[in-house]
Amino acid sequence: MEAQLEQLKDEALAKIEAASDVKALNEVRVAYLGKKGPITDLLKGMGKLPAEERPKMGALVNVIREAVTEVLEVRMAKLEEQAINEQLATESIDVTLPGRPARTGNHHPLTRVVEDIEDFFISMGYEIAEGPEVEKDYYNFEALNLPKDHPARDMQDSFYISKDILLRTQTSPVQARTMEAKNGAPIKIICPGKVYRRDSDDATHSHQFTQIEGLVVGENIRMSDLKGTLDLFAKKMFGTEREIRLRPSFFPFTEPSVEMDISCFKCGGSGCNICKKTGWIEILGAGMVHPNVLRMSGYDPTVVSGFAFGMGPERVAMLKYGVEDIRHFYTNDVRFVSQFHRTEV
Ligand code: DAH
Repeated sequence: MEAQLEQLKDEALAKIEAASDVKALNEVRVAYLGKKGPITDLLKGMGKLPAEERPKMGALVNVIREAVTEVLEVRMAKLEEQAINEQLATESIDVTLPGRPARTGNHHPLTRVVEDIEDFFISMGYEIAEGPEVEKDYYNFEALNLPKDHPARDMQDSFYISKDILLRTQTSPVQARTMEAKNGAPIKIICPGKVYRRDSDDATHSHQFTQIEGLVVGENIRMSDLKGTLDLFAKKMFGTEREIRLRPSFFPFTEPSVEMDISCFKCGGSGCNICKKTGWIEILGAGMVHPNVLRMSGYDPTVVSGFAFGMGPERVAMLKYGVEDIRHFYTNDVRFVSQFHRTEV
């Protein structure tokens, strides 16, 4: 029996040595040390031995079992380490591979145009002013030299909340509000915001749209300052080769009043479908602030003067990006809004 045990041990050790991976070694473990293995069998068979031999043989089986177990564990640790090393070698990460591009959103085209215009005027020293969308008739019309029954009110029918409160039809009321707040001090502001009109929606009209108002008030503010400002603005937004043209116009809150056109950025002035064969594109309204407007908001027109302008960012965006229907800005189709990426102006 002793010889049998020694043979068993040698056999087990040889198999342990021969096992080339963790799986094979586990099979050796089960085969020799498992419940159905020969060593367990031997222990179970002890009962058949004469009583005086049992302790000696029991001890011998245990010694052999421990020896095999120890060698197996050492071998197991080695094979496991080998497996990990192999895994590390084959699964190494190539950090030089290009990453997957992250999907970034982009601003709504109107937001982008408004921010481009804001950036330009901020660079010229203007501040951004804001006013309420639900406005008093007084600021929307009266303080802008449009008394209650002025015929020019017809052009800007509004949504009335009450007789004296309405959704503002223009950003011009911020002129009067800013003048009241500044209390005689010089002013240089632009005011972007939403405005509302009782209009039937079509490709070029919307009951809601945005405007950007500009107002400069101080001593010696002249028409040439307005012209120079608008010229720089046109070149910045539509290209350095742009020329501007001022045409006489009428707004109750400016005198004189003008419309500003830019030379067509598509055909350069020779005439095309964008400029309707005229070579010029209308961009905004402007003028010198009417003395009545200055006076009503606490400025003395014999001491200070000012200029103002107002434009529609939708129109600028439609021209810049070739958008043919104003309703695209509000229907929020991602296929439309995701086409626009901010450009340096
Ligand atoms: N508020 C005018 C409109 O909605 C636009 C405008 C014209 C604003 C001339 C001005 C200006 O400040 O001077 O039609």
